[in-house]
Amino acid sequence: MKINLIEKSIENVSNSQIEIIFVKSIENLADREILEILDFKAKDESCVLLAEAKKIYVGYEDDNYDCIAIAIATAIKKLQTTKFSSAKIELDEKLENNFKAIVEGALLGEYKFTTYKSQKEKEIKLELDILVTTKTERLENILKESKIIAKAVNKTRDMVNTPPADFYPKVMAKKAKKIAQDLELDIKVEGEKFLEENGMNAMLSVGRASVHESQLIHLTYKPQNPQAKIVLVGKGLTYDSGGLSLKPADFMVTMKADKSGGCAVLSTLWAVAKLGLPFEVHGIVGAVENMIGGNAYKPDDVLKAKNGKTIEVRNTDAEGRLVLADCLSYAQDEIKDIDYIFDYATLTGACVVGVGEYTTGIMGNNEILKRNAVLSALKSGEYATTLDFNRFLRKAIKSEIADICNIANTRYGGAITAGMFLDNFITDENKEKWIHFDIAGPAFVEKPWGYNPHGASGTGVRMTIKFLQDLVDKN
Ligand code: BES
Ligand code: ZN
Ligand code: ZN
Repeated sequence: MKINLIEKSIENVSNSQIEIIFVKSIENLADREILEILDFKAKDESCVLLAEAKKIYVGYEDDNYDCIAIAIATAIKKLQTTKFSSAKIELDEKLENNFKAIVEGALLGEYKFTTYKSQKEKEIKLELDILVTTKTERLENILKESKIIAKAVNKTRDMVNTPPADFYPKVMAKKAKKIAQDLELDIKVEGEKFLEENGMNAMLSVGRASVHESQLIHLTYKPQNPQAKIVLVGKGLTYDSGGLSLKPADFMVTMKADKSGGCAVLSTLWAVAKLGLPFEVHGIVGAVENMIGGNAYKPDDVLKAKNGKTIEVRNTDAEGRLVLADCLSYAQDEIKDIDYIFDYATLTGACVVGVGEYTTGIMGNNEILKRNAVLSALKSGEYATTLDFNRFLRKAIKSEIADICNIANTRYGGAITAGMFLDNFITDENKEKWIHFDIAGPAFVEKPWGYNPHGASGTGVRMTIKFLQDLVDKN
């Protein structure tokens, strides 16, 4: 979709255009009668097309990111059911204040994953003219930035939605190389030999039964005079069958999305470079496939991780934390004087049970940093909440025979015990700089919600960019 910012005073109206009208109250509308007959309500997701009058009415409940992004996405979906290819929308002051939501909602709402449809719907390239009182620099900047952000989210969605037969660790590495090439970033890709030579046995073991070689991806964006050093680590399980602790059939479906954290990290690096943010940002992804086979790692194995800690495996389906353990150690060994180290992972079903399928679980040791991360998420249009560590749950991952166990000895608090497992691989120096994002709930959408269609949502990208953008203002 092409989005243009136009001053209202300029008479641009062409006859072929349809108008999108946002409605918070139906009271004074000229079309009130017909809208009432059509059961239109000034509510989220209520939408009516008056084709002859060339109008799309869309309801919204509040002047905030969520409501407005949902409204524009609803209107765009309605537009897609017509043959109109061009629409206009006139913004009042309140809508102008939510301009970011309009641009991102339109671009995220338009998204469809059609790669595997043999009969493609004829796609009409849409054009959206946004009419404002004055074309300010603020609005122009938001337009430019939000286009990049939405594109990064949609890139993530495309990668995550791709089936595991076509997206395995080497494909993920190839995607990273393409990003590096397009944006002149540094990139290192290491295979299993490197993992072996560098004592990364936790990660190596998870991928052992796969026919696809595991890949450690390290992308770096380094502008001149960076204001801070940020490390983003992603779980890139291109498929999680559960391994020998095999998942039941119903739970295995959607596990192509177990690479969501890694894909979010790659796209975020792309966006950071496109936006030219003044930070050195590293993206580290453990791309691995968790499968079964004669050489699969087993419950009862004890693995030595890169930082020397030994891990008793009691469930091969708790594999993400093993991959992340080594990737986090690699990151901290390679990169010194880190300001922030964040990891992103579809880590636990328990997180989905605990906070619901829309919300990211935020964990770590620094209260203020966790609060700031929640705020960045909310401001960016994502949902997130903190989950607190505690001393009693920490005891639940003790092992009788090794330093630590990969599952807890309790049925409760599984998202937190997984987070505390990762904490074992964060050095003292970085304890307060680290955040773990469990995106198991929102990363993949089974029942469409808001502006998210079925499939990958691109969780993590917007909140991270927002966190970094707010950091620029602080520095
Ligand atoms: N990838 C899954 C977690 C997951 C579940 C992501 C549902 C998205 C939706 C992870 O590797 C896993 O299987 N975790 C286990 C851990 C358990 C064995 C301690 C889980 O959550 O059941
Ligand atoms: Zn698993
Ligand atoms: Zn997994």
